[in-house]
Amino acid sequence: MSPRLLAVLRQLSHAEFRSGQDLAAQLACSRASVHGAVAEAQALGVPIHALRGRGYRLAAPLSWLDGEQLDSALGGRGMSLRLFDEQESTNTTLMRWAQAGAPHRAVVAAEWQTRGRGRRGRDWLGGLGGSLAFSLLWRSTRPASGLSGLSLAVGVALVRALRGLGVSGAQVKWPNDVLVAEAKLAGVLIELTGDVLGPSAAVIGVGINVAGGALLTDRLGLPVTDVQAHAGPLDRNQLLLALLAELDGALHHFEQEGFPVFRTEWQACHAHRDQRVRIDMASGEGFSGLARGVDEQGALLVDTGTGMRHVHSGEVSLRRVAS
Ligand code: BTN
Repeated sequence: MSPRLLAVLRQLSHAEFRSGQDLAAQLACSRASVHGAVAEAQALGVPIHALRGRGYRLAAPLSWLDGEQLDSALGGRGMSLRLFDEQESTNTTLMRWAQAGAPHRAVVAAEWQTRGRGRRGRDWLGGLGGSLAFSLLWRSTRPASGLSGLSLAVGVALVRALRGLGVSGAQVKWPNDVLVAEAKLAGVLIELTGDVLGPSAAVIGVGINVAGGALLTDRLGLPVTDVQAHAGPLDRNQLLLALLAELDGALHHFEQEGFPVFRTEWQACHAHRDQRVRIDMASGEGFSGLARGVDEQGALLVDTGTGMRHVHSGEVSLRRVAS
């Protein structure tokens, strides 16, 4: 992404056209570089109306992350934020910062990730201005072995925040994707650093589709949805703050009590409750059965008909199949 791109986009609104000349004067650059930035934004999927003689306008309202607003809200909660226009991956950045001493509850957010990472080695794609990508550092007194179920508690926190904002159909797919009617709304990548036996640190990376889910459905060939399709237009700063507030509260609770206090709520918002699912392990082994919920450690319970299997690792593929 060229350095000028976000500067140009931040000048544009949905309400009125801005001429190339006006933008160039404002940003102290040439009209050609404004034109180049608009073309690049369009190629990245940001819908912009360009009219000869009138200039440019956003085809739909977009909100950009506002460092001052976020800093003041998060600072009030004792959380520190690093906000970037572009990063390879907010998880990678925060893992490095964690190893260099980042404080507990530090947050990294970026408008654009060049190599966003998903679970099971996959890429994570988010549209510019149409998604949220952030990572939160949680330093725990628990050893890594005491963090089982953490990812499910994170899923519950996301569902709480999204339902609070009007996405009433938000549900969890084990271990922690957020779906609405089987379409993916959010994904979580948790990476651990620190001592296996001593205190641990979890980098909790969250990617949320905010707008333009239909475009991603076409690109990925999978059902994808977005927050605005269910909750209407909303400011991404408010969304980020609401998600961080729920995550922070849930993680404090998890720190004291572990996963068991989240279990009933997780099961109540389980997208595949009592449905037939297919599990494919990294080892190549696969089986299917009825998804029955989770145990006290957060392992998925699958009734195969010949017994109950406990699926522990999140590094498996899970899909719903016809019963
Ligand atoms: C998945 O569904 O596979 C997990 C996706 C997690 C994506 C988020 S976006 C912010 C953070 N940085 C990354 O590189 N990945 C996570």
